[in-house]
Amino acid sequence: MPIVAPVPGWFPGRRSDTFLAGRKRVLGTAPLSLLNRVVRAASGWLSARASHSFASEQAAGGELPHYHLSVLPDEVNEWMAAGPGKFIIDGTLGGGGHSGAFLATGARVLGIDRDPEALAHARQRLAQYGARFSTWEGNFADFEETPEVQGGEQADGLLLDLGVSSRQLDAAERGFSFMREGPLDMRMGPSSPHTAAEIVNTWSETELSKLLFEFGEEPKARRIAAAIIERRAKRPFDTTTDLAQCIERAIGRQGKTHPATRAFQAIRMAVNEELESLSKALEASTRVLKPGGRLLIITFHSLEDRMVKRFLRYRSTAWLDEPGWPDPRPNPDYQFRLLVRKAVAPTTQEISLNPRARSAKLRVAELLAPAS
Ligand SMILES: C[S@@+](CC[C@H](N)C(=O)[O-])C[C@H]1O[C@@H](n2cnc3c(N)ncnc32)[C@H](O)[C@@H]1O
Repeated sequence: MPIVAPVPGWFPGRRSDTFLAGRKRVLGTAPLSLLNRVVRAASGWLSARASHSFASEQAAGGELPHYHLSVLPDEVNEWMAAGPGKFIIDGTLGGGGHSGAFLATGARVLGIDRDPEALAHARQRLAQYGARFSTWEGNFADFEETPEVQGGEQADGLLLDLGVSSRQLDAAERGFSFMREGPLDMRMGPSSPHTAAEIVNTWSETELSKLLFEFGEEPKARRIAAAIIERRAKRPFDTTTDLAQCIERAIGRQGKTHPATRAFQAIRMAVNEELESLSKALEASTRVLKPGGRLLIITFHSLEDRMVKRFLRYRSTAWLDEPGWPDPRPNPDYQFRLLVRKAVAPTTQEISLNPRARSAKLRVAELLAPAS
């Protein structure tokens, strides 16, 4: 993947420094008058955020708006087995649904998210738990940098509920949805390295085609990449619907799924370096969990599920064997015990209540004590 430099003139109001500063100020404790001033003063993207801003809904005295419906809530609670005296790291805090359930058992929770808006929401939702709940803004791949882990704490459980929340997906101004017009952004937060616009407007045809094929498993990747290059030579892409329409013109519409679905997934994964983050976090989980500590991962598409499945299968195999070897050998990386052999899937009842849960798969493993 190329290192993409920011494209001059693209969404000037969305440079990552502005993004960070704007959000930190707006989404924390700012009163509505300040929020309105910041929004009015800002151009483009920020002004588009005014009517949807979580902070403005809160400041207007409204109820906590619907943010995200947690996936597999009962299964996660059962397998996490949180309780008094336990310390759980929730690497994907989102709306705080799973964390709330862990806190309700008496556990301590560190909630991590790259999205300052999610953190602001969850802090407010879970304020009743006082010092038992702390938060950290950043990539879960870097959870070893949190003050808790730096201070030598090890966790009884680590949850990664991958992907984006309903809130992120539904907010047009975040640019995740091909159904809603918004800036081509797709960053989960300021720590995400590039915007979707940078990728779509600067990557070569070969790079785009590879991205769509590998991350989106899009069979018509080459045709879409060629159409993007041809269109952007006339005018760069700047909105989600602009890109979605170009893809639809290039490959047509068949069946119920929108033709831009796979391409948007692929671009989002690249924008947020999702597979790299997952791979780094899996590796780090062996250092942060206590012996007996539980790793719970919820995936939503085959690439991430394959990565988790292979990692856990290999790390839970005590003996390795190859056709050319005289005898099986002990696996030096034998570190986990699988608690469920097959991934746990949502019930049909859950899917009917929450259709976004339909592709969820939960895998659960327990860290073994180091061999003495
Ligand atoms: C599916 S939602 C989690 C929902 C949450 N479990 C709940 O019950 O409300 C995923 C959240 O994880 C965050 N996220 C995804 N990848 C991340 C990463 N690499 N580092 C930190 N946060 C991440 C997203 O910003 C989003 O808020």
